[in-house]
Amino acid sequence: MKKIILTAPLLLLFFAACTKSADPIKVTELKAGEYEPAEWAKNYPLEHEGWEATANPTPAGKSYYKKGWDTDGKIYDKLSEFPYMPLLFAGWGFGIEYNEPRGHMHMLGDVLDVDPSRRKAGGVCLTCKTPYAQELQAKHGKDYFSKPFDQVHALIPKNHQKLGVACISCHDESDMSLKLKNEFTLVKALKDMGVDTARLSSQDMRSLVCAQCHVTYVVRKDKDMKSDSVFFPWQNSKYGHISIEDIIKRIKSDPAHLEWTQAVTGFKLGFLRHPEFELFSNESTHWKAGLACSDCHMPYTRSGSKKISDHRVMSPLKKDMKACIQCHTQGKDWLLERVKAIQDRTASLQLRAGYATAAAAKLFERAHAAQKSGKKLDQAVYGKAKDYYEEAFYRVTFIGAENSMGFHNPTETLRVLGDAAYFAGKSEGLLRQLLAQAGAPAPARLDLELGKYLENRGQKKLGFDKTVEFKDPFRNQEKF
Ligand code: HEC
Ligand code: HEC
Ligand code: HEC
Ligand code: HEC
Repeated sequence: MKKIILTAPLLLLFFAACTKSADPIKVTELKAGEYEPAEWAKNYPLEHEGWEATANPTPAGKSYYKKGWDTDGKIYDKLSEFPYMPLLFAGWGFGIEYNEPRGHMHMLGDVLDVDPSRRKAGGVCLTCKTPYAQELQAKHGKDYFSKPFDQVHALIPKNHQKLGVACISCHDESDMSLKLKNEFTLVKALKDMGVDTARLSSQDMRSLVCAQCHVTYVVRKDKDMKSDSVFFPWQNSKYGHISIEDIIKRIKSDPAHLEWTQAVTGFKLGFLRHPEFELFSNESTHWKAGLACSDCHMPYTRSGSKKISDHRVMSPLKKDMKACIQCHTQGKDWLLERVKAIQDRTASLQLRAGYATAAAAKLFERAHAAQKSGKKLDQAVYGKAKDYYEEAFYRVTFIGAENSMGFHNPTETLRVLGDAAYFAGKSEGLLRQLLAQAGAPAPARLDLELGKYLENRGQKKLGFDKTVEFKDPFRNQEKF
């Protein structure tokens, strides 16, 4: 289409003809495949302003558990908050540096800054960090996944080498409707579940644009442990009901899904990442009530006479619950109290399950040492203990990686963590039996050596202050 240039009188007429204030003022026609947000800003300055504001720090004090990047410059770090994590994740990048998320403008820059061990998987890491992922994957195929991160990153045009989620990641430039950019990840995963992607409702799209990234994924490895593809492990599930059980089954179905070796146990394992969409859409109260991610994270706001979606995506707590108050009449303080109650319960059970899983890992360490020194272990019992352990590990990692501290789906969160604690307890029981039978009984009170894992994280641990450690809000401070 031709570029439309409006002269001043015409522009006035255009304004006068504009009855619906939400209609965008179309001044310039966007070029097909326009990546540059500044071009989009010419038509939609207010949305662009919000998007750009995600570069700013957020008031950590307004959130209980999701402090992120505070206005005083401090970046909060999951490994300090949950001391069982450095133990469980020792062996690869996540055990070295694992920060709380911050604003969208930082996503690609933060990957460039993070400890290099976190980029080791290769170009595949760009999938949720650059709007160019789909284009790069289509052009370069397997090389996109397997080539070193820096080589693939260099293929992005110079001026966009730090550009994260852009207008084009979520919108069709021709009519501004919502669109899924990444065909090779989300669109494929939806099709795998039998979803007709041409017939999704606009309310579905208001969540699915986020589900391009706020989901868990598997980086498949070839036999040389090079990344050969990435996919969302939803093949056993249905839309609106993606469960951790289905995901674990999928991960365990092929050794190529085991991405790393856990240092404490020596086990090859899969991993879980930020499953916001999976947890939220699995029959949560708000999902059932027809809400989408955008209702809470991009609420409609007024800007002068216009009603726009707030493109400064962040925690609703840090915006004084404005999103919630559109539907809930109980007031800000009541809502904050509800959020805190849910999150405190999640924290309590997550810590309990996390330390229990860590205890089982330390017992495997003892079992392996006993074996090395010539003691005989009952292989049937050992195998069962390992199965239970993995079930616990995946569950506690799933909720630990989910970013709402239980809020997105409180009942499902407690179910998953309850199962994690149960499986970890079963594993511990079997391991103690095994060690006792082998003549190497474990002490009643195990030393998890948590300090060792937290401190021995390479250079990067010194890059920021040691931050908060979450205490169990309901119990004394004993670890487990
Ligand atoms: C292209 C991938 C991508 C898409 C699409 C995306 N996000 Fe994000 N989001 C991220 C990444 C990566 C981070 C963490 C950035 C960092 O820490 O540098 C993040 C961070 C966030 C945060 C934390 C912000 C803060 O201030 O701490 C929220 C909330 C969020 N996203 C919600 C959403 C919602 C809601 C949507 C859909 C409307 C969405 N995201 C779409 C990748 C994405
Ligand atoms: C993470 C996904 C995402 C990104 C990135 C994004 N938007 Fe949006 N945008 C949305 C969602 C969701 C809506 C709400 C759509 C709806 O309600 O149907 C929206 C709505 C809009 C609208 C319609 C009017 C309104 O405000 O509701 C415009 C215009 C718009 N966005 C412009 C932009 C521009 C310009 C950029 C880049 C600077 C951008 N968007 C980046 C997700 C995104
Ligand atoms: C009913 C409201 C609601 C819906 C719907 C919702 N969220 Fe949230 N989200 C929250 C609340 C509340 C928090 C906790 C914020 C806090 O503790 O500061 C949160 C936290 C987050 C965070 C972490 C924010 C941070 O500052 O670190 C991300 C990321 C996120 N949500 C993404 C999503 C995505 C993606 C969806 C859809 C799949 C979604 N949310 C749906 C309310 C909602
Ligand atoms: C678009 C409307 C809408 C928005 C926005 C919204 N909610 Fe809700 N919320 C609902 C509905 C509908 C229910 C179910 C109500 C019911 O069954 O009584 C609900 C239920 C709840 C419940 C009880 C849920 C449970 O599982 O016990 C809490 C707590 C809650 N909302 C908090 C919040 C918070 C906090 C926010 C903002 C982050 C928020 N809501 C945003 C509509 C909304």
